[in-house]
Amino acid sequence: MTDSANPDQYGLIGHPVEHSWSPFIHGMFAKESNQNLVYRLYDFEPPQFRRETLRLFAGGIKGLNITLPHKEAAAELVNVLTPRASRAQAVNTIMFRDDSSLLGDNTDGIGLTRDLAGNLGLELARKRILILGAGGATRGILAPLLERGPTALIIANRTVARAAALVMAFKDMGPISSCGFSDIEGPPYDLIVNATSASLQGQMPELPPGLVSEDTVCYDLAYGRGHTPFTMWAKTLYAGRICKGWGMLVEQAAEAFELWRGVRPNTHTVLEALTRKT
Ligand code: ATR
Repeated sequence: MTDSANPDQYGLIGHPVEHSWSPFIHGMFAKESNQNLVYRLYDFEPPQFRRETLRLFAGGIKGLNITLPHKEAAAELVNVLTPRASRAQAVNTIMFRDDSSLLGDNTDGIGLTRDLAGNLGLELARKRILILGAGGATRGILAPLLERGPTALIIANRTVARAAALVMAFKDMGPISSCGFSDIEGPPYDLIVNATSASLQGQMPELPPGLVSEDTVCYDLAYGRGHTPFTMWAKTLYAGRICKGWGMLVEQAAEAFELWRGVRPNTHTVLEALTRKT
């Protein structure tokens, strides 16, 4: 139970976090669903993460989102992992439970598939998916994508051994394979996801021709203003649809909010508001 003078406390831990949209998103969710809560940002460096996170929970905080670079450390910190967090070996949402234990969840992957299916109308069953990158971001989205029943999911990475290791870890879930960027084969894919951090360095890996058609959805997990090198690449190849990760950001937040509050927030109004602001 909360009273208006003592709202329940939530927040996001990351490093850096000051540009995060999460307070805006959770603030809108709370307002629209009449939930009395506050959501704050906490910037902790890796050596402080464990101590400061436990201190926040000891101080009464009810739930935390976790972002880079702490998602793996958060998976080590919690008492119990949901199956999807265990698969991802990364946690982006922690809930303080009535028995004082910490539950770790990962809502990133479901955030992506909800955005693809619900907001963009892309059904993944029997589709071909290409993922660029084999780091933590890819690990977080593989299980929910494979659960949708694609015919093929190819992971292409600069370091091929990392992509091959992900194939070993997820091959029980569906038709997944790996290769280097220069070995990616057509025909054009239904969905291409950029999960590399190359954009952050203003780069786009060189890819063979014939991967994109006017029916291809090109989705960059990164978000921000304007084009990324990946969305620019997709534009020059006349991809059918080009998206950045705003929808995934809002949908993963909605999953966390529902876990904490037991209420499903309306994501459309928040996504519209964000689109107007960015
Ligand atoms: P994250 O948690 O964001 O996935 P990560 O685990 O460091 O971060 O993974 C970054 C991904 O971006 C990796 O797939 C990395 O490729 P390598 O495994 O070969 O390092 C990829 N990446 C980063 N910079 C890149 C670049 N300039 N060109 C191509 N791939 C890049």
